[in-house]
Amino acid sequence: MLSRSRPSDTITYLEDGDWAVLTRAICVIYDSKGAVANRETLKSGASSLLVDKANYRHFMAKEIYEQPEVVGQTLARYVDMAAKRIALPFELPFDFNDIRRILITACGTASYAGHVAKYWFERLARIPVEIDVASELRYREAPLRKGDLAIVISQSGETADTLAALRYAKAQGLHTISVVNVPTSTIARESKTVLPTLAGPEIGVASTKAFTCQLMVMAALAIAAGKGRGELSDIDELKLVGELIEVPRLIAEAFAIEPQIEKLARDIAKSRAVLYLGRGTSFPLALEGALKLKEVSYIHAEGYAAGELKHGPIALIDESMPVVVIAPYDRVFEKTVSNMQEVAARGGNIILMTDATGASEATVDSLVTIVLPDVAATFTPMIYAIAVQLLAYHTAVLMGADVDQPRNLAKSVTVE
Ligand code: M6R
Repeated sequence: MLSRSRPSDTITYLEDGDWAVLTRAICVIYDSKGAVANRETLKSGASSLLVDKANYRHFMAKEIYEQPEVVGQTLARYVDMAAKRIALPFELPFDFNDIRRILITACGTASYAGHVAKYWFERLARIPVEIDVASELRYREAPLRKGDLAIVISQSGETADTLAALRYAKAQGLHTISVVNVPTSTIARESKTVLPTLAGPEIGVASTKAFTCQLMVMAALAIAAGKGRGELSDIDELKLVGELIEVPRLIAEAFAIEPQIEKLARDIAKSRAVLYLGRGTSFPLALEGALKLKEVSYIHAEGYAAGELKHGPIALIDESMPVVVIAPYDRVFEKTVSNMQEVAARGGNIILMTDATGASEATVDSLVTIVLPDVAATFTPMIYAIAVQLLAYHTAVLMGADVDQPRNLAKSVTVE
């Protein structure tokens, strides 16, 4: 195919083995045998307006602040707002009653969204969930049961390991669902069922708004699964969906903590390492908080299940160690407080992220207490994500790091 240069809103997909000669003037595509190939050209719906920094200094800040809107748009795609019922955009080609186990796989931040969802599926739908990073899943020859369900999660839809994991699950005869942000991506095109996140283009290398949108989709899917399996009644669904509907507003309210986070970032920026702790769904959020901080600020950070503290990481704690404890006032709050006591006893500097009740019930002194809006216990990760994202962002800015393009990282990892 020989053509004049096209505007950047046109897309041509290459097939396996294809290669192209691209100049300012022309694009010629050849197939694996070297013959000129005529591949279809499609129009992309992407708008250049969406890839502008607007009045923000960095894409990461803009994308953090877009969350009330994009999470709200994603919610509206999955929920009948008037009836307060889940209304998935597509009919699923299977019955949740036939699914014995769900496999969730993804990389990086997307895998932490999957981790949170494991708690939701197990609690709301009583389906066992296995979660594995795609780079491990693809090679460990996991025995999978035909007819079960695999869910892959990816912002870009181009992550090589996630794509390979999807192909593996398909080859094993599993039903597959992809939760993808880029609708034209390879993962979306290779998936029979695509559940879109409506985060819009995410430019900052650190994933922020895609994460909370992934959580919104997974929450809706977990409720649908619970309903489909008879684990949730109509009333349960009404209640849970009512709680989900509150999430975009609560995310917007969470930005009130920003001045406090900016101040805290001055201390964190001087730290050599930071520990993040959480229990239940706050555990994957601790992993995400640590990843966010290390990738944009280059400060070493680790996330742990709070109960694991005494099995090793407690040895790290001294007066120089900030410990971010993510502890909304939920059913495991008291347990997390006892872990905070272990930290305090060793002189660690506790940064408690909690809600008003948690702040008044915590019996341990913290260096800083960040009070987030009250949110239904099931869905706290979508609100607390704002706190860990802002902390990473402001720390990195203070340190003069290249926030949008951290060293050594690529937005989309298309190689192994
Ligand atoms: O595009 P994907 O969601 O598949 O990308 C997965 C990871 O590469 C990505 O989340 C990465 O960990 C980000 N840098 C995290 O902020």
